[in-house]
Amino acid sequence: MTARPAIGIVGLGTMGLGIAQVYAQAGFPVIATDAHQPARDSALARLGDTLQSRVTAGRLTEADRDATLARLTVAGDLAELAPCQLIIEAIVEKLEAKQALFAALEPLIAPDAILATNTSSLPIHAIADGLKHPDRTLALHFFNPPPAMKLVELAPHAGTSPTTIARAQQWTEAAGKTVILCPDRPGFIVNRCARPYYGEALALLSEGRSAAEIDAAMTAAGYKLGPFALIDLIGADINLAATEGMHAAMRQHPRYLPFPALKAQVASGNLGRKTGKGFVFLDPPASPPADAAAIALRIEATLVNEAHWLLAEGGTTPEGIDTAMRLGLNFPRGPFEALAKYGRPAILAELARLRAVAPDALKPRYDPAPGLETK
Ligand SMILES: NC(=O)c1ccc[n+]([C@@H]2O[C@H](COP(=O)([O-])OP(=O)(O)OC[C@H]3O[C@@H](n4cnc5c(N)ncnc54)[C@H](O)[C@@H]3O)[C@@H](O)[C@H]2O)c1
Repeated sequence: MTARPAIGIVGLGTMGLGIAQVYAQAGFPVIATDAHQPARDSALARLGDTLQSRVTAGRLTEADRDATLARLTVAGDLAELAPCQLIIEAIVEKLEAKQALFAALEPLIAPDAILATNTSSLPIHAIADGLKHPDRTLALHFFNPPPAMKLVELAPHAGTSPTTIARAQQWTEAAGKTVILCPDRPGFIVNRCARPYYGEALALLSEGRSAAEIDAAMTAAGYKLGPFALIDLIGADINLAATEGMHAAMRQHPRYLPFPALKAQVASGNLGRKTGKGFVFLDPPASPPADAAAIALRIEATLVNEAHWLLAEGGTTPEGIDTAMRLGLNFPRGPFEALAKYGRPAILAELARLRAVAPDALKPRYDPAPGLETK
């Protein structure tokens, strides 16, 4: 069995406490802290409640619940994280805060202890910048809720050492996760390669199709949730923020355009499940339209293309992208599996068709990625 060193967690909010649970349940001692005293004081009780509901559901024994709780130590300050060999931060999503935290931790921990960030959107090289040992820094990007979501994206920056990558991967796999290596690029794999699922659906909506029929076309194609049901689940405001972040990070490329229909939805306040109304939330599902297969081809062609743009940037593989999309979004197939399903000529023909009919400003959305065209 893999040795189980102490894991440090900083930030005991939604993600930090969930990540603490992942490692503690797998037998790792966990030392966790938070800048906010109420978050520290309530952490054990919050984890206890989560574990108790698993016991009640018959998914965890009382002995395992008690052993997991006994493995979590809540620390009053960062110095108590000194014995940890892997420290994961899940604090506020601000570059300066993450840089300051890692700079404060560095002199307290072993020279080879790993500093991992759970950032969703910040560049890893920027977080590592200024550290004495930047080679020990990488991202371990968990998905929400961490105990339920199998995928972890591991993103090193250009200076991360191979030993750091190997150890972080080994321990996180020992905690039961599927770890996929990905580049230090905006959105890593899942948040980037998912953009066309929403974006192309919003393009169809702005052309006059209804959200319900677009969703029905995608569920008929095997997707558990259509694009609008997924936006309703995530929250239109969160989806818009992620799209705008990607649009800015990718120099306003129209592939990441925040469509006016999404902005209008946010402005209306109908954000999805959390407000009780969204694009389709609580509406009865529609029947797939007559051209459902054409809608699915259009959306999947843009998913295939985005995956090839990412692949061309290096640091990942077709298999890695497919696995990440299946596990991170519950997609029935990854983009390279979709390519195999339709065949390269059909995908390229669909992109060419979309480019021909798109308004000038949107034509570059459909430029085929170099690797897609030349194979
Ligand atoms: N929520 C998600 O779905 C999700 C998914 C993946 C990644 N993330 C990322 O995980 C991180 C945490 O997100 P969250 O949703 O758990 O946030 P959260 O607001 O639920 O929790 C953040 C916690 O960090 C604490 N904190 C803030 N600044 C701190 C500091 N300087 N030192 C110590 N503690 C500090 C806060 O008191 C709070 O308890 C962010 O970087 C976020 O982008 C979030």
